[in-house]
Amino acid sequence: MGIQITPSILNADFADLGAEVARIPSADWVHVDVMDNHFVPNLTFGPTMVEAIARSTDIPLDAHLMIDDPDRHAPTYVEAGCASVTFHIEAAAAPVRLAREIRSAGGRASMALKPATPIEPYEDLLPELDMLLLMTVEPGFGGQKFLDLVLPKIRRARAMMAKHGVETWLQVDGGVSLETIERCAEAGADVFVAGSAVYSADDPDAMVQELRASAAAARGGQA
Ligand code: DX5
Ligand code: ZN
Repeated sequence: MGIQITPSILNADFADLGAEVARIPSADWVHVDVMDNHFVPNLTFGPTMVEAIARSTDIPLDAHLMIDDPDRHAPTYVEAGCASVTFHIEAAAAPVRLAREIRSAGGRASMALKPATPIEPYEDLLPELDMLLLMTVEPGFGGQKFLDLVLPKIRRARAMMAKHGVETWLQVDGGVSLETIERCAEAGADVFVAGSAVYSADDPDAMVQELRASAAAARGGQA
């Protein structure tokens, strides 16, 4: 799998999400940010809304759960129609069991790390995961500045994946734009969430294509 762009609808018009998703037909995934006002200081939506978004589009949904107790709630998002479900390691009680439950429900299992959470303790979990999300801002809000301090962790995670010979995708989320995507791609990321960069563009779909081209060029032309 090459470069994938997964626009976040966090900064789209919540009163008209079906139409907002229809503006990005070139997206590989639609990234839905679920926030519970406990794990992060912001509140968005839950499985009912996610199910409605899933019904409105053929593009697969990539759920990013910024919630407490993902062990209890994550499988619900597979049932709600998400092809990929990401839980935060900082909130999970039994990440191996949870990843296996997401997979057995038919979803791709993904685990997220906040910027200050090290990857090293979780090296042996990589074969249990379809994707690793390395946050490049503190989770909770769109429109924040990209944290360059995460780049070495992206490189280390990519090297670990090569060592283990796993096909785990490496996603980055937060402050990804035309200005920062090349740095992430060079460091080894291959799945890119972009919220405000896409939805503040005059033509969101053209921005999706520009982001993909820019990341592909940084990874040596691999699209
Ligand atoms: C932040 C969310 C992101 C957010 C990204 O906690 O997880 O998905 O929408 O927005 P930008 O691209 O504006 O940083
Ligand atoms: Zn997100």
